[in-house]
Amino acid sequence: MSSVFCRIPVMANRRKTSRHEGPGGFISSCGAKARAFSRGMEIDGVVVSAGKREAAASTAMGTVRVRGVVPGDRIRIRISHAGVNETWGKAVAIIEPSPERVVERCSAAGACGGCPWQAWELAAQRREKARRLMEALSQAGTVHGTVEEIRGAGDGFGCRNKILLAAGGSAGSLKLGLYVPRTHKLIPAEACPVHAPAGAEAVRGIERVLDGFRIAPWDERRRTGTLRSALVRVAPETGRIGVVLMIREWPLKAGPVIGRRMLGIPGVVSVHASHNPDPGAAFPGTPPRLIAGTRRIEVRVRGTAWLLSPSTFFQTNGAALPLLVDAVGMALPERVGVLADLYAGAGLFALSFARRAEQVVAVEADREAVSDLRASADLNGLRNVRTIEGDAAASLSGLHAPDAVVLDPPRAGIPAPLVKRIAEWRPSRIVYVSCSLDALARDLIRFRNAGFSVLRAMPVDMFPHTPHLETVVSLVPG
Ligand SMILES: C[S@@+](CC[C@H](N)C(=O)[O-])C[C@H]1O[C@@H](n2cnc3c(N)ncnc32)[C@H](O)[C@@H]1O
Repeated sequence: MSSVFCRIPVMANRRKTSRHEGPGGFISSCGAKARAFSRGMEIDGVVVSAGKREAAASTAMGTVRVRGVVPGDRIRIRISHAGVNETWGKAVAIIEPSPERVVERCSAAGACGGCPWQAWELAAQRREKARRLMEALSQAGTVHGTVEEIRGAGDGFGCRNKILLAAGGSAGSLKLGLYVPRTHKLIPAEACPVHAPAGAEAVRGIERVLDGFRIAPWDERRRTGTLRSALVRVAPETGRIGVVLMIREWPLKAGPVIGRRMLGIPGVVSVHASHNPDPGAAFPGTPPRLIAGTRRIEVRVRGTAWLLSPSTFFQTNGAALPLLVDAVGMALPERVGVLADLYAGAGLFALSFARRAEQVVAVEADREAVSDLRASADLNGLRNVRTIEGDAAASLSGLHAPDAVVLDPPRAGIPAPLVKRIAEWRPSRIVYVSCSLDALARDLIRFRNAGFSVLRAMPVDMFPHTPHLETVVSLVPG
């Protein structure tokens, strides 16, 4: 592994380096100076900030975007792209490591792109996320309430309970792994330290079963083979595992036998297959069809259970999930009349807090998720949960004003008409769960203009080693 995905060589021992000391200081790459960069040239620089994927390194000639480096690193950069507006480079050596640099756990760090902040110590990552959250809240002019410290679970490794793996290798020696971005080079799944250990173990079992049937991986260039990818989901607390095989030929020859063999892998209780004949796209295919085991897997968090179909959304960080549920619980009042959970998924919040409410109304667009939510409410003996299948903004016309609203939209946030609708209800509490600081800042401005202010913000590190942050914000009228 290490010979294929080599780490950036470190040239010197660690010394305290100011994040701001750099040859020539910070000069923007926009403008005449930046054009002096040329492809292949080498230049030294200091990393001054961590971006979403690439960090910014300050050089004597301007800023260069570089991957796999940490604020405070002094690096040698080889320019790979000298554009008018942006210059990109590759760190060929770390001349002097940042005091915040740590040894990456992943042998493919840098190549994979999945955890771009992995070489940065966790405490420093969280300080940066807290800074970004404060920036987003102050942009929205809403830093009146309490902003709490980021909660996180453990060291942020071994916590990811859902992973989509591409198929590589050959028939009889199939490998599941992650593609190096924009290539077909496969990083074997066992290199991924964020994947839950039970899932990683199951991947080895899945490969063995598929090898037993000489299932060939789909070869994009030759247009041959069967298996495109496999989705592996480990249920938090119960450890039950669901597998979806994304295949090119349909039906999968010996599918039921393959499925039954997979049920012999520790933890695996459900095996589905999904068909995708499109040569370009790997995911998604047709709705997953059961080939062996149970249709759903059971998940448990803080005493509540859910039944999940393979395509239903559920949070991917099993270790930090209880902290997220706790944060929403703290943001909600102890007793609620009607609680609306918009963008409910399988009802993570609707069911977790149904016992605090007289009635819960859960709104979700995905049919399968709604069906899972209903089955899960039954499983928990909850009779006060009503579901509405449909768009959160468009399906609320007949809904009586709820007393509290939980909102957990996708990354894009919520549309302006929905903010207006919620504001008209005048609930005593709005709990906004957001995984995008940009969307959060925009939507909080809308809520502020509609007469709501922030009471409390509780960030939870659901995506360690990445720039992403989950934040639970409670809003009150006034
Ligand atoms: C970030 S997930 C949150 C789900 C749930 N709260 C949880 O934590 O498991 C967002 C959910 O919104 C749903 N969704 C996306 N667009 C929607 C829309 N316009 N109206 C209603 N639900 C939508 C998705 O299917 C997904 O289940």
